[in-house]
Amino acid sequence: MTVAAPAAGTSREVEAAELEALVRLYAVYALGFLLVTLLSGVWLRSAFIWPAARAGFEFPFLVHAHSHVAFFGWVTPALFALIVRAARPPAATCIWLRWHAHLLGAASVLAFVGFLQMGYQTPTIVIASGHVALWVVFAARVMPWLRRAEAIERQYYGAALVFLLIAGAGAMAPGVVEAKTITDPWLRQSSLQLFLTPFTAGWLALGAYGAVYALLGSARFARPVWMLTVVGALPAAAAHVTVAPPHGAFELAGRLGLLLTGAATLLFAADVIAGLRLAPLARLAGIAALVKGSAEVLAALGVGAALLTSKPLIVAYLHLALLGLVTPVLLGALVAPLRAARLTALHATGLVATMIALGVMGVPGGYAWIIGMGLSAGALNVLALVGGVMSLAALGGVVLLSVASRRTLGLGPSAERAPARRGGRIEIGQPV
Ligand code: HEM
Repeated sequence: MTVAAPAAGTSREVEAAELEALVRLYAVYALGFLLVTLLSGVWLRSAFIWPAARAGFEFPFLVHAHSHVAFFGWVTPALFALIVRAARPPAATCIWLRWHAHLLGAASVLAFVGFLQMGYQTPTIVIASGHVALWVVFAARVMPWLRRAEAIERQYYGAALVFLLIAGAGAMAPGVVEAKTITDPWLRQSSLQLFLTPFTAGWLALGAYGAVYALLGSARFARPVWMLTVVGALPAAAAHVTVAPPHGAFELAGRLGLLLTGAATLLFAADVIAGLRLAPLARLAGIAALVKGSAEVLAALGVGAALLTSKPLIVAYLHLALLGLVTPVLLGALVAPLRAARLTALHATGLVATMIALGVMGVPGGYAWIIGMGLSAGALNVLALVGGVMSLAALGGVVLLSVASRRTLGLGPSAERAPARRGGRIEIGQPV
């Protein structure tokens, strides 16, 4: 019976079309929410200079709206797009997952509007729990298909999804703390880190590293980076709690976790910097990883311990990771083969301006130094705002270019990866 050949070809085309439509759907939602994240970040920054810019919204509510749309609307659907692209589930699952993508999009709009209006209240907690439920559904439907992915993607995305589930479970901890009216500051901060650290140091870090390693093939440190991150990400949570722990073991675990994840970040940076053919956005992420990893290793060794509680430095560290490392990797992977070298340079300049401003604000004597230079203390807020506007213009520009280009937001490198890589090395024809 040889008549099956044309039908098989047709069903493969249907599978590819359904997969492409799904990847595009998650990507379009993600990019839309990236714009909201960037705009709301600039809005927040402008409120430091012109309080009236808050337009009557509470500042903490604005921060919650910005951070929730960043996590729920931007980075998570972006990684879902990349994971689905790697796992290549069958057409029926793709069609089913389209509902999931729309629900995720709708829940992200609700989260942004809800947190902006009321901060943490019962309705917004319900919306956030709905997000966690959608993560569980995604993991349950897509994880089994990861066996179809390349080994490196299976490893990284599989572990990343496990951390997403752990973060989802950890997200319930602050609710328990509130319900039991726990006032102990260490327990309160730790309950937040039970979500934040597995989410950023596990889900986002492994997802972003996996996206780059998928392009690089078998890079030199891919294996140790995975191992160090998987082992270090959970204990690192203790290092991000700024209140003294009840027992020295927590400090030791925190430092060890930070040392392991910091070392992983440095090895990842080494691979990216050596990967000369990577697109500019990924290469920028490599430089951000170098700075972030160095800071983590130094902090783990106890260097500059007094600085770890400084709010501007915490915000700088967070944005170095999220805006400097994770966002460029995910955006670059979604819009490939667009290279956007000039816009990446603009974003890099904006990031440096933001880091300098927050860095000077955060170190002891920073403000005195600025005043000694004949500038007003407010100049640092202006510099941070200028940096944010540059990043908004640059990354927003990349989004608009990709929407205008018909070659992006589809199956991208994964569709062509088999002929593009041989023996773990990038060959001519690799789209980035
Ligand atoms: C133009 C780019 C951005 C600007 C100007 C910006 C600005 C800000 C500002 C001013 C804050 C509040 C800091 C404070 O409370 O003092 C903030 C918080 C936050 N941002 Fe951004 N942001 C940007 C992009 C992003 C991106 C891309 C992400 C994630 C992918 C992100 C994630 C967060 C998170 C999680 C917080 C909450 C921090 C906390 O709770 O302490 N931001 N951002």
